[in-house]
Amino acid sequence: MQDSELIQQAYAAQRRAYVPYSHFSVGAALETEDGQVFLGCNIENATYTPTNCAERTAFFKAISEGQRSFRQIAIVGGYLDGEFAKGKEAGYCPPCGVCRQVMAEFCDPKTFRILLARTPEDYISYSLEELLPTGFGPGNLL
Ligand code: THU
Repeated sequence: MQDSELIQQAYAAQRRAYVPYSHFSVGAALETEDGQVFLGCNIENATYTPTNCAERTAFFKAISEGQRSFRQIAIVGGYLDGEFAKGKEAGYCPPCGVCRQVMAEFCDPKTFRILLARTPEDYISYSLEELLPTGFGPGNLL
């Protein structure tokens, strides 16, 4: 799938974010090796810590549907709520450390791509290895 198409799907997921506390909406579109796309948004909680990031929502949805092989993920984030968005340009939204670790569990750090987009055309593509160097993964337990 074209990068811009996957990014557009991340924007669709972003609109479903449940963010009454931070007002910061994140969307992720995760493409499997066989070309299926699983969407995720962040889901916050009144007690804060159960909050789930968009990326992990997408991964957990895909894994619970039997997927194990992933090609890339597109991530977008920013303030959609008029009051909070005022005057703020959307920046790139890098995945948090916990999400990077979840990616490391299921993805090849050399080949898995992470697309951070500000617009469908303005994005940076990283490998997982670039964002999680010297990570601890399943290989360390063998
Ligand atoms: N968040 C994500 O969903 N993914 C990221 O990559 C960074 C942060 C969420 C968590 C929380 O709901 C909000 O953004 C602010 O931290």
